[in-house]
Amino acid sequence: MKPNLITRITLCGLLLNGIYSQAQTTLEVNTAKTITKIQPTMYGVFFEDINFAADGGLYAEMVKNRSFEFQTPLMGWKQPNSDTHSFNKESGIATTIHNSENKTNPNFCRVLINDAKGFELINEGFRGMGIKKDAKYNLSLKAANTNGTIQKIIIQFIDKDKKVLGETSITPTDKNWKNYTAQFTATQTEAKAQLKITFEGTGSIDLDMISLFPEETWNNRKNGLRKDIVQLLYDMKPGFLRFPGGCIVEGRTLAERYQWKKTVGDVENRETMINRWNMEFKHKPTPDYFQSFGLGFFEYFQLAEDIGAAPLPILSCGMACQFNTGELVPLAELDPYVKDALDLIEFANGGLDTPWGKVRADMGHPKPFNLKHIGVGNEQWGPQYIERFKVFEKAIKDKYPNMIIVSGAGPFPDGDYFEYGMQELKKLNAEIVDEHYYKDPKWFRENATRYDSYDRKGPKVFAGEYAAQSVAIVSPDNKNNWECAFSEAAFMTGLERNAEVVYLTSYAPLLAHAEAWQWTPDMIWFNNLESYGSANYYVQKLFSNNKGTDLLAITKDGKPVTGQNDLFASAVKDANSKEIIVKIVNTSAKAQNINVDLKGSKFQSKGTIITLTSPNLEDENSFAAPKKISPKESEYNVKGEKAALNLPAYSVTVLKLKIK
Ligand code: AHR
Repeated sequence: MKPNLITRITLCGLLLNGIYSQAQTTLEVNTAKTITKIQPTMYGVFFEDINFAADGGLYAEMVKNRSFEFQTPLMGWKQPNSDTHSFNKESGIATTIHNSENKTNPNFCRVLINDAKGFELINEGFRGMGIKKDAKYNLSLKAANTNGTIQKIIIQFIDKDKKVLGETSITPTDKNWKNYTAQFTATQTEAKAQLKITFEGTGSIDLDMISLFPEETWNNRKNGLRKDIVQLLYDMKPGFLRFPGGCIVEGRTLAERYQWKKTVGDVENRETMINRWNMEFKHKPTPDYFQSFGLGFFEYFQLAEDIGAAPLPILSCGMACQFNTGELVPLAELDPYVKDALDLIEFANGGLDTPWGKVRADMGHPKPFNLKHIGVGNEQWGPQYIERFKVFEKAIKDKYPNMIIVSGAGPFPDGDYFEYGMQELKKLNAEIVDEHYYKDPKWFRENATRYDSYDRKGPKVFAGEYAAQSVAIVSPDNKNNWECAFSEAAFMTGLERNAEVVYLTSYAPLLAHAEAWQWTPDMIWFNNLESYGSANYYVQKLFSNNKGTDLLAITKDGKPVTGQNDLFASAVKDANSKEIIVKIVNTSAKAQNINVDLKGSKFQSKGTIITLTSPNLEDENSFAAPKKISPKESEYNVKGEKAALNLPAYSVTVLKLKIK
């Protein structure tokens, strides 16, 4: 009798639930009591120009070194048949001229053509140029046909065998500098196209700002941003956009810090600068990594507005990266840095009668950008930071008392730098403190309780940079694997459960060019034709799209669900959609059957269940399988106040129930 019964029960369980474990766990949600409001900024995005995220990435410019301002002024340009190659003397040669009177864009290219059939100038793009069959491309350049002897400039897409994949031409009519534009269509899709320029006529011609954009950009803005990448960001419904970093804010030296004023106005006059990630890592050198600032502060604010995110700029506080030179601006000389912060607030929010408000309006945005937060310093530590922060805080609050100031607790989530920074910032009643953690996946699972004991009356938390590292921080072998992603999800239930203190959170870094990155893991990967969200992206998106408005308690035996039976959970109500949303992460290698008791509400009979899962810890998304790990949504039939759930092994489940 006995063995039979067990067999029958087991069989029944297997039939109903596959290989789910038999122990039933019950979680309880009190839907009637709001613990706190979820901040609209809860889940955001962190943008830094690392991994070719701006030039070569989000900023859709296809020509690398368009204005010949890299340290090696012809970097990115080739002239295979030129006089520099002794076998082909006298076809012509391109050199660069430095005009020191032009302070922001001093170099231009002088091309001497002796043999129009022989000479060619080729731009290699950012590891090639991605072109799509039948898509249109907008070319622009400046030319001075100094002797009037060049009849035509011919511009072509070519592939590696020099096959022409689309072409146009420009007639340079003026001896003086003049802007020219042309449009052409690609005849074939090619990931590694290049731009070839040849000439009709002989003699000399000067060229500058040779630029090429796809016609199709985000919001179809001329010379704008890559549509596919912005779409991925938009789909996340991010609460904020932090920019421009990261360590890029600080610079390796003070001279190389990010200076927002140099990134606004006419793109031609935005001074190109070396990117601090250029040669940062010996294992991933990218000597051709520079910043054109075509994606500058105006464009960041515009992007934030486009994707419905609150803008969150972070500024240098007068300290260069302490992992590099750690150069310090003496306190007595901090004024220009503080002024940059005050002027930025005016640029974002000022009226048209203010100097910086007018700059914004002249760039096409008369309405304010509604800036509410500003960050002072990135990953600074020690007394020098606190001293400088105090100066900024006073100046900003004196002029803009409602501006919320974000301070930082340094690069690590614990240890001396962190403890000291936190202790001092608490004394100053800091409003929001930025914490960073790049740790192994286990740390994320074990730290889901990190904020349970944070002082509810102390500074609010900006979990500003985090990502689980499958190997170790800055290891080039780190992967965006499923274990990292669901461990972050487990941790994020802890962020959400602590919405009383956690106000903003963001994964970092955001973007990476598959052939030009320096840092991994990254949330979104792209090449010159395509982009895809990692498993970590889908975790972020799930939480952000389902952040709700009110935090509810979800417990097991009266305690928060922080790893009991390998389960992590949080629950919210969305007052707008009138839903209860429960998020449960099962970090176990086994599936689990659980019950969720939802007290205090009546539900409509049909809800939704979304599951994000993958069987193997090492699984990843890729260009070949971009949605291998992505949410699957189905209808959920509600019976009363109890929800029975089958949680697959290694899974993130979101249950959404409509309140009657
Ligand atoms: O996200 C990459 C880098 O990590 C950021 O620039 C820096 O703030 C952190 O150390």
